[in-house]
Amino acid sequence: MVPARAVFGAFQRRAFSASARNLSKVTVLGAAGGIGQPLSLLLKLNPRVTELALYDIRGGPGVAADISHINTKSTVKGSDPTPTGLASTLKGSDIVLIPAGVPRKPGMTRDDLFNTNASIVRDLAKACAESCPEANLLIISNPVNSTVPIVAEVYKAAGVYNPKRLFGVTTLDVVRASRFVSELKGTDPKDEKITVVGGHSGVTIVPLFSQSGHPDLTSNAELVKRVQFGGDEVVKAKDGAGSATLSMAMAGARMAESLLRAAQGEKGVVEPSFVDSPLYKDQGIDFFASKVELGPNGVEKVFPVGDIDGNEEKLLEACLGDLKKNIEKGVAFVAANPPK
Ligand code: 2OP
Repeated sequence: MVPARAVFGAFQRRAFSASARNLSKVTVLGAAGGIGQPLSLLLKLNPRVTELALYDIRGGPGVAADISHINTKSTVKGSDPTPTGLASTLKGSDIVLIPAGVPRKPGMTRDDLFNTNASIVRDLAKACAESCPEANLLIISNPVNSTVPIVAEVYKAAGVYNPKRLFGVTTLDVVRASRFVSELKGTDPKDEKITVVGGHSGVTIVPLFSQSGHPDLTSNAELVKRVQFGGDEVVKAKDGAGSATLSMAMAGARMAESLLRAAQGEKGVVEPSFVDSPLYKDQGIDFFASKVELGPNGVEKVFPVGDIDGNEEKLLEACLGDLKKNIEKGVAFVAANPPK
């Protein structure tokens, strides 16, 4: 077991050196998949990324070769689908995005993916804990409410858990909320900063319109439902061919960009995200999405939920019940199926 102080010191040194160098290695695990490909493309277009490493169980080198021809400065490397390939992909990463896993089919909830994706995420988390324990981990693989606790448990078992470095990507809920409100109000979506708290699945997704300049919308049940179940719209429209990939890729790329901005010294970068949070720990809920200020060490500050109205209180209550179960399911999975 690595002493906590030594690990913390290493985190600080790494944060300092990455920001001082302004060099950023970003790695995608699941890079050849439906989300992974557009996500890798968007990261290649981001001038803050200097090194892009792409891994998948098949197709990683092909996607890397393709993307590497794009004339931006970053280098791109695809690795072999072997444990050694994975380890070398991860070494030196500042950010690792994990969209690996299977997507939903019509009629499925995100929780229905648990049996397949839980072990995929567990095994990738183990590789990250071994090869890049100080990297920021951005978890996209569903069900996010359970896969994030899975990663935390694997890191704890390896003695390298740093709660400031683990994020469940809930950015797509924020993106959807801002787009849907702008359509309704005839506004520009970039001006619609809608806070979304809770988790990333059905009723655990809680938009807070009362804090976002639209107190009239908290009683708009149709809109609330659309934000909560927006992913289902896409699953249905794709008719068996998967779930949101392009919008999810945009959301993951935005979250990575925010972390890079913060790591490179920008102050006041805030993104709602599903993190190890003090807000509901007294109710046994260790992870919760709320506004999070990002910094060179990852999570800088977790903002409280703040004032909400009666409609939102009811949504939050329903959220907490489900969220607790989702988190417990992830923790129980690792206890029963520890990484090998
Ligand atoms: C969604 O919200 C894929 O979880 C993703 O559509």
